[in-house]
Amino acid sequence: MARILEFDDNAIAPAVEILRRGGLVAIPTETVYGLAADASHGEGVAGIFAAKGRPQFNPLIAHVASIDMAERYVTFDPLSRKLAERFWPGPLTLVLPLKKQQDTDRPIHPLVTAGLDTLAIRMPHGRVRDVIKRLDSPVAAPSANRSGRISPTSAQAVAGDLGEKIDMILDGGACGVGVESTIVRVEGESVRLLRPGGLAAEEIEAEIGRKLERLPHTAAIQAPGMMASHYAPNALMRLDASEVMPGEALLAFGPARARNADGATAQLNLSATGNLREAASNLFDYMRKLDATGAKSIAVEPVPFDGLGEAINDRLKRAAAPRE
Ligand code: TXA
Ligand code: MG
Repeated sequence: MARILEFDDNAIAPAVEILRRGGLVAIPTETVYGLAADASHGEGVAGIFAAKGRPQFNPLIAHVASIDMAERYVTFDPLSRKLAERFWPGPLTLVLPLKKQQDTDRPIHPLVTAGLDTLAIRMPHGRVRDVIKRLDSPVAAPSANRSGRISPTSAQAVAGDLGEKIDMILDGGACGVGVESTIVRVEGESVRLLRPGGLAAEEIEAEIGRKLERLPHTAAIQAPGMMASHYAPNALMRLDASEVMPGEALLAFGPARARNADGATAQLNLSATGNLREAASNLFDYMRKLDATGAKSIAVEPVPFDGLGEAINDRLKRAAAPRE
């Protein structure tokens, strides 16, 4: 079982030591817990794929401690730089052209980018940046769950899913945002939304004064979130429910209840006041908790699509998708 350490200053040195030798450390970020390896350490990065049981073609996000650190590896266009300066640290990932790596001291291992000539990169909030700074290398980190399972928003959730397969879990409490980062890519004058996430599209649009492009323009898969079944609980998820069927648990949203809500085998409300930020931060935790009741089906009340509702609806849709 992984060592679980309270994430205070004393945890930084032992975590860095594990990362340096190619080990795996689960780290809290503002979005979800990540499963981190030193991005320059091939064995470490390979260990992420092994622990998650993740298809190797999915590229990973590199997490940096500063814009300076990012510039060792990628080239910023002016729009991307503006976004980084405005929203970093925070739940925004930028896909940027990778610099030639031969002059770099410890280059990003090609497993991180899955051989692409771009790198997905972000600066997370919180103490995890002290670990990255001390390591003096970015960490590659997907969500710290087995592939296809619900992303973890607490150290306990990581321990339950991956505890036997990793070296250490840094316990920083519950994640504030609760859904993964928003991923965008600047292409000339347009900015493409590759994955809705914890930074609302409207906030990005307000900053850049233009609409985000939403359709993927290449055939290549750009995000595993794009694979139909992802974030899957064991229970079936029934979306936009206006009524609770016999035997169903209820994932509620807002002040008004679906018909027969009192008949639900269990129920949790993402946000009784209809606050989408609160709902995002509760989403994965509540899916996990309702799933753990053993319900065969979870009825989900409708959630609006504005602001963080876009990311919430995206994750709900994937959780409800037919399983492979
Ligand atoms: O909030 C988050 O982003 C969390 C925390 C741990 O930082 N991480 C996360 O990582 O969600 P992951 O591996 O579950 O998702 C990474 C996404 C994938 O959808 C992947 O396809 C996309 O980033 N991605 C990575 N590199 C890319 C690239 N070069 N071009 C386009 N998409 C890329
Ligand atoms: Mg994930």
